[in-house]
Amino acid sequence: MTALQMPTNQDLDPQRLRDAFGVFPSGVVAVAAEVDGRPTGLAASSFTSVSLDPPLVSFSIANTSKTWPDLRRADHLGVTVLAQHHGEVCRQLAGPVEHRFDDVETTVSDDGAVTLDDGLARFDCTVYREVEAGDHTIVLLLLHAVDAGAAAEEAAGPLLFHRSAFGSVAS
Ligand SMILES: Cc1cc2nc3c(=O)[nH]c(=O)nc-3n(C[C@H](O)[C@H](O)[C@H](O)COP(=O)(O)O)c2cc1C
Repeated sequence: MTALQMPTNQDLDPQRLRDAFGVFPSGVVAVAAEVDGRPTGLAASSFTSVSLDPPLVSFSIANTSKTWPDLRRADHLGVTVLAQHHGEVCRQLAGPVEHRFDDVETTVSDDGAVTLDDGLARFDCTVYREVEAGDHTIVLLLLHAVDAGAAAEEAAGPLLFHRSAFGSVAS
């Protein structure tokens, strides 16, 4: 067996880390809610399923986020798993706040959770815990309702984020 040779004392500068983290492919979700009467939210590729009992998912939010301080005040949050055709919507959800929901079909729950109508799966959540994690905060979300809707059954694939680019799952 060959020992793994990695140079030690590397300078783990942000770009080097981004490049290495970007090798790991992920899906992308929209995290959104109605806050002060307006849809508020962002795109996040750090979404992960965490626990079945209690039902928990997580995502990480940069501590520099201007949206999270508003979003976390919502009673409920919506999480939508984006489909492969959502590349532009995803960019929009990460862009200027005043245009994030332009021409995006959404549903608002009675508790204020906002989900995209043509997402692959939709979750209704509340914030369970926030864990400090360096320059990000890991947000654990407790699930109250799940809808892995018709779009998924119609075999629309997920939006993939890999090496800073969007892609889809090869079938
Ligand atoms: C594909 C993609 C994935 C992203 N994932 C995250 C993420 O996991 N966490 C995060 O804090 N921001 C993520 N962002 C950036 C946010 O969508 C948003 O641009 C950022 O929070 C700045 O906006 P804000 O200040 O309104 O929060 C992602 C952006 C893109 C395009």
